Amino acid sequence: MNILLDTMWAAQLAGSGDAGQWEHVTKHCDALGGRVFLYAGAVGELQRAVEALLQEQEVAQPAEEARSRIKAFSEGKHWLAALAGEGDVWNAENPAHEQLLRAVSRFDGKCVVLTEDSQLLARGGDRVMSPDFYCALPVSTGVPFINLGIQQDKIRADLERRLHRVLAHGAYINGPEVGLLETMLADYVGVQHCIGVSSGTDALLIAMMALGIGAGDEVITTPFTFIATGEMIAFLGAKPVFVDIDPKTYNLDPALIEAAITPRTKAIMPVSLYGQCADMDAINAVACKHGLPVIEDAAQSFGALYKDRKSCGLSLIGATSFFPSKPLGGYGDGGAIFTNDEALAKAMREIREHGQDRRYHHPRIGLNGRLDALQAAVLLAKMPLFDQERCDRVRVGNRYKQELQGIEGLILPYVAPDNTSVYAQFTLQVPDRETFVDVLKAAGIPTAVHYPVPLHLQPAFDALAQGKGAFPVSESIAERVVSLPMHPYMTDAEQDQIIAAVRSAFHG
Ligand SMILES: Cc1ncc(COP(=O)(O)O)c(C=O)c1O
Repeated sequence: MNILLDTMWAAQLAGSGDAGQWEHVTKHCDALGGRVFLYAGAVGELQRAVEALLQEQEVAQPAEEARSRIKAFSEGKHWLAALAGEGDVWNAENPAHEQLLRAVSRFDGKCVVLTEDSQLLARGGDRVMSPDFYCALPVSTGVPFINLGIQQDKIRADLERRLHRVLAHGAYINGPEVGLLETMLADYVGVQHCIGVSSGTDALLIAMMALGIGAGDEVITTPFTFIATGEMIAFLGAKPVFVDIDPKTYNLDPALIEAAITPRTKAIMPVSLYGQCADMDAINAVACKHGLPVIEDAAQSFGALYKDRKSCGLSLIGATSFFPSKPLGGYGDGGAIFTNDEALAKAMREIREHGQDRRYHHPRIGLNGRLDALQAAVLLAKMPLFDQERCDRVRVGNRYKQELQGIEGLILPYVAPDNTSVYAQFTLQVPDRETFVDVLKAAGIPTAVHYPVPLHLQPAFDALAQGKGAFPVSESIAERVVSLPMHPYMTDAEQDQIIAAVRSAFHG
């Protein structure tokens, strides 16, 4: 539960310079996984109130002292922006209180105003709490599967500035943020062209459309992936030709590809699963021998390294997703396509915009597959953190591996020597998944299964008539995989709790 400090109470705390009376509240807020906000719309009021207190205490130079005390007090707290709807409060009995109550309502019950003011306490109902009441709230012992809130705290000011800029210029479609992001991402990956699109799914679709893939064609891919990979092949009327995976990396096994190539094969689409690139050089070599294009489904691997080169830039086309939980995730749907091929880049740009090469001129069939400016603004705000987050994912992944090694029956993620995984998921293999999940759940640890049913066994692909036994590695792994919480801001204490629960699932 987050807290928004009543400005007058904040003034007392800041003015007293005594952290003691406040410490137990911050500790409890931390334990509840909350954050402390100060209302940015009330800085003048805050300063005047602290100054008045200091004057009462006959402190020398109260104005300067007030500034420095507020500055010190606000460290580690977050400034909550005032929104337009919080200005029109003049019918309220107490406009300052009304502002705080409106501001806290934005949090959908996940934030309260903290105050000792009896009038505000009486007026605010369940949106207001006294510090004592707040400190009695029970602490949940669980850990989250992913925590996007910490990242948001770090970028809040830039994020809000960028979002408000879009609201001001109003170019929601094809606004300047999209081009800016595309340039930044192309530079990051080290390719010439990046095309922002509406999702990772559309990235795959648009890439295949640009290659002219359609009815009767075949595309070789893995059955052990999220549905979108095979789904978009089928969506175009083409046939997904599944090839089994490497049992250690869970990625397409390059040694099995050649046998699946037919005269109808039009492309190979490996997936860089869980954040680790497929063996792209080996796959490109087979593709090159047969004159086939390779599309890397890099939805889970943006930022991953393969032989010191970046995912998305390892084959003719790379396609990624900005789904919120992905290594580079937005606050909604989004994706991007990467290539060094000028003609393909032009085709993909046209396809994402109804096949038009200029307004209302449509040389080809396309779709509405654009990335919008607000989403691009979110991603621009996130990019400066990305490399540190990438390193922190590796740190968290390595710590899991270090602490969980040697447990009989537990198979840890294998990262090939040429690879650096971004651990989109940290996925184990366990012999009895149901019991494992139950033990972790009882300990407050959420898990997820990526993915319980390989694509060839999904009813959507019944027409392929590939029953059980067709891809034994994928099938056996799908029965045993389970993912642990993973995000770059996991604390050692949280991770220790997860590690202890995993150990207890094996040793009781
Ligand atoms: C391997 C893979 N491909 C494609 C996608 C589709 O991405 P999006 O959800 O952005 O459409 C995902 C998303 O989970 C994925 O994991």
